Amino acid sequence: MKSSENELSKRYNIASADFSRAGNVSTQIKELLQEIGILSSIIRRVAISTYEAEMNVVMYAEKAQVLLFICPEKISISINDKGQGIQDIKLAMQEGFSTATDEMRELGFGAGMGLPNIKRNADKFNISSTPGKGTSVDIVFYLGQKKDT
Ligand SMILES: Nc1ncnc2c1ncn2[C@@H]1O[C@H](COP(=O)(O)OP(=O)(O)OP(=O)(O)O)[C@@H](O)[C@H]1O
Ligand SMILES: [Mg+2]
Repeated sequence: MKSSENELSKRYNIASADFSRAGNVSTQIKELLQEIGILSSIIRRVAISTYEAEMNVVMYAEKAQVLLFICPEKISISINDKGQGIQDIKLAMQEGFSTATDEMRELGFGAGMGLPNIKRNADKFNISSTPGKGTSVDIVFYLGQKKDT
């Protein structure tokens, strides 16, 4: 962890196909935000978003690095994965679209709501992908204002 007087940045790793540890990084981020006293309504939105992004890495990518940056104005999170990438981002963003396997669906995933949920909860959302290489999801939460979800 690197921190100056009012900035903090932290890096996490997500391993793929590790359902036993799935949710680990989003839980760690949530606990850190609680420790530093971030508003609970914002923590909830960050936790939902990072959990969905983390599960997508576990299910559809090989591994990822998560960069968290916090300053008085905002929380920025980048999830950069190495993996198959997404051919058609517009399609992937549609509610209900999912390529989840039967096993994933049995575990309760595959509603095709993860990415739309991240977009809804974040103040800023960007996704980019290179098929065959990987996907990056960048989200920002402003600390000074409320967003109705
Ligand atoms: N990091 C990723 N790498 C490759 N493909 C991805 C990634 N994230 C999402 N996708 C693709 O986009 C689709 C939609 O993702 P989304 O999170 O919205 O739904 P889901 O994961 O299928 O279901 P849910 O999130 O509701 O459990 C996925 O089914 C998958 O095909
Ligand atoms: Mg998902």
